[in-house]
Amino acid sequence: MSTLLNVEDIHTYYGDSYVLQGLSIHVDEGETLGILGRNGMGKTTLINSIMGFVPPRRGAIHFRGEDITTANSFDISKMGIGLCPQGRRVFPTLSVRENLLVAQQEHDVGYRWDFKEVYELFPRLGERAGQRAGSLSGGEQQMLAVGRALMTNPSCLIMDEPSEGLAPMIIQDIGNAIQSLKAEGLAVVLVEQNAAFAVKTVDRVCVITNGKVVYESSPQELWADEDVRRNHLGIG
Ligand SMILES: Nc1ncnc2c1ncn2[C@@H]1O[C@H](COP(=O)(O)OP(=O)(O)OP(=O)(O)O)[C@@H](O)[C@H]1O
Ligand SMILES: [Mg+2]
Repeated sequence: MSTLLNVEDIHTYYGDSYVLQGLSIHVDEGETLGILGRNGMGKTTLINSIMGFVPPRRGAIHFRGEDITTANSFDISKMGIGLCPQGRRVFPTLSVRENLLVAQQEHDVGYRWDFKEVYELFPRLGERAGQRAGSLSGGEQQMLAVGRALMTNPSCLIMDEPSEGLAPMIIQDIGNAIQSLKAEGLAVVLVEQNAAFAVKTVDRVCVITNGKVVYESSPQELWADEDVRRNHLGIG
């Protein structure tokens, strides 16, 4: 399996605040990677570094073999990394359809995702295409956030805590959507505090504590390791 995304020993700061302290991860083509860790450990900062929002001061990030360490966010998105941000971030006053439309990227040759395909994945969005996004339920807004990321036609989809604040049945719907994306070969990075959800969904997990990867294994191994669960995830 070839490496799609490679984050090598990155060091990322907010001003003087030293957050990522030599963090490395990789994602293979078609792989689903779970990134776990408690509040404030650096998960979103890792995403901010990958997407070019807060580039690392040291270390390197490669996507499809190209160095994107200092690339801008727009180019990174065009190269095929799609982001479904923490807190959903849909435009509340725009309709569902308009939210999808503004996320769409021009493609010269074939594309996979357009309105029709997003509505097939999430029929509830199709039923509510003309409705203001701000009037959707939390679960529907999360589906829209995933749809917006897909409209960029990514080869790697990064999702930052998609289960946050959602009821178990809706989390299941999001999990099913991830499974079908995975089945068609899309690489997915799933950042989660909900470890129970992540381990059911991904192929491999990394645990981040204090800006470093402190543990990496199969989801089954992680779930069986009480020490890691207690010390690094706060569940026991
Ligand atoms: N814009 C910012 N400016 C300064 N410090 C920040 C900023 N964003 C995050 N931090 C700090 O960086 C550290 C890592 O935050 P980060 O958002 O990456 O954590 P996280 O693992 O995503 O947490 P959560 O699970 O709560 O989303 C925290 O100490 C946080 O307070
Ligand atoms: Mg976060």
